[in-house]
Amino acid sequence: MSKISVHFVCLGNICRSPMAEAVFRHLVEQAGLSDHFDIHSSGIGGWHVGERPHEGTRTVLEDHGINIGGKRAQRLDVNDVADADYMIAMDTSNAADVHEMFGREIPLLMEFAADGIPMDVPDPYYSGNFEYVYRLVRAGCEGLLNQIGQEQEL
Ligand code: 4NP
Repeated sequence: MSKISVHFVCLGNICRSPMAEAVFRHLVEQAGLSDHFDIHSSGIGGWHVGERPHEGTRTVLEDHGINIGGKRAQRLDVNDVADADYMIAMDTSNAADVHEMFGREIPLLMEFAADGIPMDVPDPYYSGNFEYVYRLVRAGCEGLLNQIGQEQEL
């Protein structure tokens, strides 16, 4: 069985996309679907490559009982873009960068949320509002898993 590759993209890969990676993996585990998925995240920029996720991301995930594992920041590259079945951007700027750099059009995470508003997940690196970002990411990941489940008949 070939796995379904899901890849989340933000700017630095220390706040939002590692959060989405961990939340989505948690939902997949809860659904008993871990064997079906490869789940990744990376950043447009390379400033934080090798670093652990931001303390705000680690704390909010811990508050919600979600394991972030041994994640270290990575920079998005051409192989990631080729390999991902589903590549998902946190905001419109990330999506525009992926299109410009790699020629792939990718959706926003919030397009998958139940209310379907195609909004950005705002960057908590500047706002510090990790709990608000968690709620958005959670809603988006729940909708994304529903959609992939339907499309892939899981
Ligand atoms: P992220 O947040 O894209 O959600 O990981 C950021 C992290 C770092 C920077 C920008 C955004 N930075 O400019 O270093």
